[in-house]
Amino acid sequence: MASLSKILTKRKEIIQDGIDRGFRDRSITEEDCRYLYELLAISKPRVVIEIGTWTGVSAMFLAECGAKVYTCDKAKAYSQKHSGIKYYNCWSTEFLKKIKNKGVMADLVLLDGRLLDCDKKRLLRVVKDKACIITHDYVPGSKGARNFDLLKRELTDIRKYDEIGVATLNKRKK
Ligand SMILES: C[S@@+](CC[C@H](N)C(=O)[O-])C[C@H]1O[C@@H](n2cnc3c(N)ncnc32)[C@H](O)[C@@H]1O
Repeated sequence: MASLSKILTKRKEIIQDGIDRGFRDRSITEEDCRYLYELLAISKPRVVIEIGTWTGVSAMFLAECGAKVYTCDKAKAYSQKHSGIKYYNCWSTEFLKKIKNKGVMADLVLLDGRLLDCDKKRLLRVVKDKACIITHDYVPGSKGARNFDLLKRELTDIRKYDEIGVATLNKRKK
């Protein structure tokens, strides 16, 4: 796990590179990184799925914390070459299908895009039971609240830190 200060320096570099290429900063904040760093230091996820890459600040953060990161976005803002990140330039529905075919099973999910109704079933197929599910923009009316609402029957132990929602996946037995 890289040090938090190294991660925060890289964060600034990625944001500046994005701005230089015409992509405004939409990434997770420094404060978000501080909180998530503590969380990941305890949970130590090995495989992470992310929806919503943008320039890849959160993907870099997750990879520097030691995870193999599978991330997707239809926006073409991502330009990093990070050995821990596998980027898919597509929306979540296609992405979830592709990683299922690769046999990916995640310990942690970061939702920073908006899940579609049809994604729920596909997401559950590529995430381990008791995995940690995190959503960004977890405020009423925003995508985070919508994401957790879609998954609510499978989520337990929901906590809120600033604009981040954290929950445990509890797959319902058929
Ligand atoms: C706030 S930005 C992500 C910032 C990024 N996580 C970071 O910290 O650098 C949200 C991104 O989610 C993407 N997005 C929204 N819904 C999506 C979906 N269903 N599948 C893939 N990407 C999605 C948008 O295109 C946008 O680039």
